[in-house]
Order: sequence, then structure tokens, then C-alpha cells
Amino acid sequence: MVCLGNICRSPLAEGILQSKVSTDAVFVDSAGTAAYHVGNLPDERSVEVARKYGIDITTQKARKFTVKDFDNFDVIYAMDDSNYQHIILLARNTEEHQKVKMVLNETQPDQNFSVPDPYYGESQGFEKVYKMLNEACDIIANNFIRK
Ligand code: 4NP
Repeated sequence: MVCLGNICRSPLAEGILQSKVSTDAVFVDSAGTAAYHVGNLPDERSVEVARKYGIDITTQKARKFTVKDFDNFDVIYAMDDSNYQHIILLARNTEEHQKVKMVLNETQPDQNFSVPDPYYGESQGFEKVYKMLNEACDIIANNFIRK
């Protein structure tokens, strides 16, 4: 799960998806395309909305997406257009390019909708992001072995 800072959207996506699939079956992680917040905990507003739905994301620490992630992951979900462009520029071949998907295409196929960046907004923005990601992760989880 990849966003810009790895403190708002992608930590939520990681926590939500991991809550729906067995850790034995699927390894879920998140990263940011920018390094501003490397080593930081998720944003308190993401922590709060996750906690509200019974998910603890406080064990996560922000890291930057690297080209090695193409070796370690089968699917790479971008939260928005700009993350997507950034990641595909790092792809070394067609196979890697094809691993990159827009996460909301799970709920709205082929639309390339972006998860809005809630960083500069109000806490309702985090609730909205949670709901979008929860729906997308339901579909992703159904493709694996659900807990
Ligand atoms: P995220 O949100 O990409 O969902 O983690 C942001 C976090 C930090 C910044 C922008 C977006 N920032 O500009 O520091």
C-alpha cells in the first residue's frame, strides 16, 4: 500500500487489509513515495479512526518505497495518481509495471479514482478515507483466504 508520506492513507490501508487476511497467507506492508516522515508513527488522526474500528496501527513506522519492493511484493497498490506515476517510473520491466494498481480500481474498476489526501483537512476526511479503503480491502481480501 503506497501513498505520499506513509503516515495517513497507506498505514490505514495496511492495517485494514491485514485485519481481513491471515498473516500466514498474506504479507501486507506500506510505504511512501516521499521521505519526509520516514521513521514516524502514523498520523494521530489515522490512528484514531483505525482504533474506532478496532484496528491498531501504532506498531507501524513510515518508510520510503524502494525499487526492491518490486522484488518483495506481488501487488503494489497506489493511493493516488501521483503515487502511481512515481512508482511506475521505478519499474524495471513490464512485469513490475503490471504489479502496480490503483487501489480504488478494486471498487470502481478502470476509473483510476484517487484516495483523497486527508493530511491538510479535517478528521471527517480520515473517516471517508477509512470507508473507501475498507471497501477496497474487502474485495482484495476476498481474493485471498479470509480470516
Ligand atoms: P499520506 O498523507 O500521503 O496519506 O501519508 C500525507 C502526509 C504528509 C504530507 C502529505 C500527505 N506532507 O506533505 O507532509
